[in-house]
Amino acid sequence: MVVPSTAARRVAVTGAAGSLAGDILPGLIEQGYEIVGIDRRPSSTFAGAAWETCSLDDRERLTAALAGCDAVIHLAGIPLEDDWDSLLAVNIDGTQAVLEASRSAGVRRVILASSIHAAGFVPVPEDGAVVDDDVAIRPNTFYGVSKAALEALGRLYHDRWGLEVVCVRIASRFARPLDERMLSTWLSPADAIRLFAAALGAPDVGYQVVWGVSANTRGYLSTDGGASIGYVPRDDAEVFAADVLGRATAWDRRYIGGVFCSPTPPRFEAPIDTQVGAGR
Ligand SMILES: NC(=O)c1ccc[n+]([C@@H]2O[C@H](COP(=O)([O-])OP(=O)(O)OC[C@H]3O[C@@H](n4cnc5c(N)ncnc54)[C@H](O)[C@@H]3O)[C@@H](O)[C@H]2O)c1
Repeated sequence: MVVPSTAARRVAVTGAAGSLAGDILPGLIEQGYEIVGIDRRPSSTFAGAAWETCSLDDRERLTAALAGCDAVIHLAGIPLEDDWDSLLAVNIDGTQAVLEASRSAGVRRVILASSIHAAGFVPVPEDGAVVDDDVAIRPNTFYGVSKAALEALGRLYHDRWGLEVVCVRIASRFARPLDERMLSTWLSPADAIRLFAAALGAPDVGYQVVWGVSANTRGYLSTDGGASIGYVPRDDAEVFAADVLGRATAWDRRYIGGVFCSPTPPRFEAPIDTQVGAGR
C-alpha cells in the first residue's frame, strides 16, 4: 500500500454509490487514502474505511460524517438534465450543504464535480486553439446552471472562509469514447483516478477550475489547469477513432456541450442504478 505523502489522508466522498465513484475509489484506496463513503443509497461494492447512508439534506448527519476528514470529494448529484426544482434541491442546495458541513467540520479541501455543461455553449474552437480551464460559464441546460452554481459556491467558500476548492469540469467520462465529439472530450476511468488523486495531493490549490479530460490527440480543452495541480493524463481517445468517426451531430461540431445544446437535451430519466457514465 502506498501512503499518500500529502496532508489529506482521510477523504469523504459523497455520491460514493455512484458510477464515477465506482471508477475512482478503488484507485484512491490503493494509494492509501482512507475513504468515508456517503450516499443516500447503500453500496454493495464499497471497500473504504467507513460508510454513511445519508441524504445531503440531512445536514446534521452530513457534518458528523465529515468529522476528522482532511478533504471531501463531492460527487453526489443529479448527473444530467432534469426539472429545475430537483436540480435546485439536489445539485445546488446539496452542494451548499456539503460546503457548509465541510466548513463546520474543519475540512481543509473540497473537490467539486463540475461539468463541461457549465460552459456547454462555448463554441468548439478553431484548429489548434484551446478552451481555457476557467472559460466563462455558458450553461447549456438547467443541469449546466446547477454546475455553474456549484463553482460559484466553491468560490464563495474559498474567498470568505478559506476552504481550498478544486472544481473539476468533467468532460466525457466513459469506459471508451462513444462518438466523434468524445475524441476531443473523453476522460478515461484511469485518468479520472489520476485527476482526483492530483486534486487531493497538490499543495496549496487555493481555488481552481480544471478540465477533467484525457490526453486526447484531438483535445481542445486546456490541460494547463490539470498540469498546475500535477495531473498527468496518459490515455488518448484516438485509439478508438476508427470506431466513432462520423458519429456526430451538427451540435457536436458547433458547441463543446454537443447535443446537450439542442432544444431536447438528454435527460435524467433512467433509475439511478441503471445509469452508467450518464453525466457526460
Ligand atoms: N459521469 C460523467 O461523465 C460526469 C460528467 C460530468 C460531471 N459529472 C458529475 O459527477 C458526479 C457523479 O456522476 P455519476 O456519473 O457518478 O452519477 P451517478 O448518478 O452514478 O451517481 C450519483 C450518486 O449521487 C447520489 N445522490 C444523488 N442525490 C443525492 C442526495 N440528495 N444525497 C446523497 N446522495 C445523493 C446517488 O445515489 C448516486 O449514487 C455528478 O455530480 C455528475 O454531475 C459526471
